[in-house]
Amino acid sequence: MKVLFVCLGNICRSPAAEGVFRAVVSDAHKVDSAGTAGWHVGNPPYGPMQTAASARGVDLSSLRARQFSSADFDAFDLIIGMDAENISNIERLRPPGNQTELRLFTDYAPETQADHVPDPYYTRDFDGTLDLIETCAAGLARALQQG
Ligand code: 4NP
Repeated sequence: MKVLFVCLGNICRSPAAEGVFRAVVSDAHKVDSAGTAGWHVGNPPYGPMQTAASARGVDLSSLRARQFSSADFDAFDLIIGMDAENISNIERLRPPGNQTELRLFTDYAPETQADHVPDPYYTRDFDGTLDLIETCAAGLARALQQG
């Protein structure tokens, strides 16, 4: 399975999702992340997010931001956005006829009743965001196991 996590800047939520999800699934899965905006292309994840993830044993330091593109619809089996704005920005780039599944990350954590992953770049709640990302990642891993 090839899974792509997408947020706005690709320096907080989606690299954290990539790192957390990679830690809970086998290497057989291809896992990547991207941002709908190009502001931070080439940059490592945001320092405070790296610090919060590192405290949980998740090393994000080797990741670099890239911008989501329409080619990603063909390169991945499942694309996962963090909020409704991500979903509409992604959907706008879908090639004609492409049917790649596009979901909200929180769809995999119905028990939280969250309808998006809040952006810690604004909320500054890096640990709260990581808690939710861990719950969503566990739910996604279960969903993939069940096929
Ligand atoms: P992310 O957070 O989408 O979770 O990576 C953001 C990071 C940077 C900005 C916005 C959101 N920014 O405006 O630079």
